Amino acid sequence: MSTAPAHKAAEWLEELGAISDDAPGLTRTFLSPALARAKVLVAQWMQEAGLTVFEDKAGNVIGRLECERAIAGTVACGSHLDTVRNAGKFDGALGVVTGVLAAANIIQSGRRLPYHLEIVAFSDEEGVRFQTTYLGSRYYAGRLGPTELTASDAQGTTIGEAIRNHSPMFPVPPPHAHLLGYVEAHIEQGPVLEKENLALGVVTAIAGQTRARVFLTGKAGHAGTTPMTLRQDALAGAAECILLVEQRAGNTSSLVATVGEIRVESGASNVIPGSVEFTLDVRDADNRARLDFCKNLFEEFETRMKRRGLEVRIEIPFVSPATQCSTRLIQSLASLVKKHQGRCPELVSGAGHDAVALSNITDVAMLFVRCRDGLSHHPDEFAAPPDIAAAVDVLTEFLSEFPMP
Ligand code: HGY
Ligand code: MN
Ligand code: MN
Repeated sequence: MSTAPAHKAAEWLEELGAISDDAPGLTRTFLSPALARAKVLVAQWMQEAGLTVFEDKAGNVIGRLECERAIAGTVACGSHLDTVRNAGKFDGALGVVTGVLAAANIIQSGRRLPYHLEIVAFSDEEGVRFQTTYLGSRYYAGRLGPTELTASDAQGTTIGEAIRNHSPMFPVPPPHAHLLGYVEAHIEQGPVLEKENLALGVVTAIAGQTRARVFLTGKAGHAGTTPMTLRQDALAGAAECILLVEQRAGNTSSLVATVGEIRVESGASNVIPGSVEFTLDVRDADNRARLDFCKNLFEEFETRMKRRGLEVRIEIPFVSPATQCSTRLIQSLASLVKKHQGRCPELVSGAGHDAVALSNITDVAMLFVRCRDGLSHHPDEFAAPPDIAAAVDVLTEFLSEFPMP
């Protein structure tokens, strides 16, 4: 394998970026046909690097470098291979590709690690198919409990059924020994590094998330014959709720809230919408602020929708508390970044990452890579090859001398 990581990484990200469930955009969802094709490619790169490839029942692909001491602990590194709809090529994939290239550098150097190393391509972080998130990394961390397997997708398949019916393409991994820590390289998905004119930064904390689905039920009716005063218009109600979300989140110092999806049941231009469903995504690094925001917002939804004669039902398929990264790992990673670029910004991540799921069982750290205009979850997402190469170099050093607990 050539050690020209900048060139190799850019090439691989282009190849992965062309594997989609619904071209022309890039979309790869949990256990989809495109995800299977992407896994085959990543497995091939892992094998070329000298890693032994496994796949677990949740579709996570794991490239393993065993150390001589079987009882040694395991260091994990990776990110997700799934994407949002009409995604960019770097969110998730960059962490998989840089992890494989860092492992390849270590193997080529002939260095013997005193711990096992696992490079992981997680099968679902974005949660597009089941509206939950971190399915792959929660399974890998042994934290995907039976109660969480009941959510179903648009076809009515539950998470549990999808996993039971999944037949891994590669051998199922042996249970990994206790994890000594996890590190993830990821595009920043924000503007700070670009503003600081730096390639890399480290993450101190990852914002907590509440993901909700709001169902408004009114009464469908004839658009032409129903007076405005006699309507129970679920879509007009949703519009009031959505503007309330924007207005309230805008009045806070750091909390962000987004309505990303809305669905009108049997919508037609000449029918008053009788029932509407919309999603709500609330994030903040402060858990208390996020929980209070949601409680007060939902109470206000009830009050205002009652005035409109609408019923409100709220489901909360996913909540994730804010996550602190490990000081021990951050210090070590930041010192490598400083060696590389002189100084190292420390950032809070507004985006969620697989590191959140891994933080339930081990210490985690994240290496952020500058991305153009801070843009992400968009086809124009971009990270420059020299910045990616810098991430590979820092990851190589970090994984070669992993700071032991
Ligand atoms: O939505 C997020 O924060 C991440 O991209 N899954
Ligand atoms: Mn994402
Ligand atoms: Mn991501």
